[in-house]
Amino acid sequence: MPRLKRKQLHLIIICFSALVLMAYWEKIDNNIVTHVMSFSYRYLLNSFTFINASFRVNPEDAIKYSNHRYLINHERKCGEKDVLLLLFVKSSSENFERRRAIRSTWGNEAYIERMLGVTVRVLFALGLHPEPEQKRRLQRQLLFEDQRYHDLIQQDFIDTFHNLTRKLLLQLGWKEAYCPRAQFLMSADDDVFVHIPNLIHFLQGIGRSNGKNLWIGRVHHGSPPVRDKESKYYVSQDLYPWLSYPDYTPGSGYVLSRDVATRIYQAALTINASFHIDDVFLGICAKVINIAPKDHAFFSGEGKAPYHPCIYNQMMTSHGHVSDFHEMWKRVTEAEAGQISSGLIWRLYCTVTKVRLLCLPFLSNSYPCKAAFFEYDSF
Ligand SMILES: *[C@@H]1O[C@H](CO)[C@@H](O)[C@H](O)[C@H]1NC(C)=O
Ligand SMILES: *[C@@H]1O[C@H](CO)[C@@H](O)[C@H](O)[C@H]1NC(C)=O
Ligand SMILES: *[C@@H]1O[C@H](CO)[C@@H](O)[C@H](O)[C@H]1NC(C)=O
Repeated sequence: MPRLKRKQLHLIIICFSALVLMAYWEKIDNNIVTHVMSFSYRYLLNSFTFINASFRVNPEDAIKYSNHRYLINHERKCGEKDVLLLLFVKSSSENFERRRAIRSTWGNEAYIERMLGVTVRVLFALGLHPEPEQKRRLQRQLLFEDQRYHDLIQQDFIDTFHNLTRKLLLQLGWKEAYCPRAQFLMSADDDVFVHIPNLIHFLQGIGRSNGKNLWIGRVHHGSPPVRDKESKYYVSQDLYPWLSYPDYTPGSGYVLSRDVATRIYQAALTINASFHIDDVFLGICAKVINIAPKDHAFFSGEGKAPYHPCIYNQMMTSHGHVSDFHEMWKRVTEAEAGQISSGLIWRLYCTVTKVRLLCLPFLSNSYPCKAAFFEYDSF
């Protein structure tokens, strides 16, 4: 009798493990299948012509998403100056600390003017806090903050993840209205570290050669819509029935040239902006006018850059910073001051280091392995 029980117990354990494995396996498997399907769709089957047909709406319907009233504005922020870069940071009312850290590190306009010799405008894009009680308190604090720094731009939409497309339209619309001459527009999250010296050198190079037709960041090719209802990024079949999104750059940080920003904004005013994921929405608008993003290995999508001088040489953006803005800024400005990075030995050392940091699977999700072989001036 006890013998039989032991056997039964074993059997139950084995069955249970098999079930768990199967459930888990199905999930992995599903994910792979979804990606294979979406990739095939992107590369073999479709040129996304459906987007034009399905997302176009009357301008009167489209405008509803972008005609919000400004609650805080600075119409003369760009003035008559030759602004190289207008940099919008997507922030939320309560993120005072992040804004403070950005102002005193990579977003410090005075430092940029003095050390890099160019004019950059850094503004924070905001909506209204969703909670009425908090809204009133935060609104007072925001006005106070803005009196001191003059760098908040706020419209009267509810500031939620599902309203990010409205925030994108705020940024594009503000540029058209108040800063049309800025050569480049960047949009970034408020937990992104932007290596502003590298970015400025890069944009100056592009500006000298032509400065047009640029949309750059980390490019997502053939990403499938997330159908898992638990996910923050869930998108229903009704909203987007196809297998794959057009190419786009994640909203953590990307740059548009002036002409592209204008054309995308004009397109956005003819598109149904109820699609709430802002970066995918930008991809949809761009697809309608046939603009494609360019991939840059040193824009990070989701990931955080490894701490290493060989990385600071080339990084553009790194995601997921909150408390270490100051430390990062200190490290990169010190590395900048060092300028030891030209000799052959140093280059070899850096290539090996970057392979170690970026090419081992599961170790880093910031920059792709190819970034290890990316020459500083090769773009
Ligand atoms: C988006 O903002 C509008 C305008 O404030 C509001 O009516 C709507 O409820 C918001 N949507 C979400 C999902 O927060
Ligand atoms: C925009 O898309 C949403 C969701 O698919 C839909 O409910 C709405 O009717 C569309 N708006 C217009 C004006 O077509
Ligand atoms: C989309 O449609 C508009 C007019 O409906 C047309 O002008 C435009 O060329 C189309 N775009 C593409 C990429 O087919």
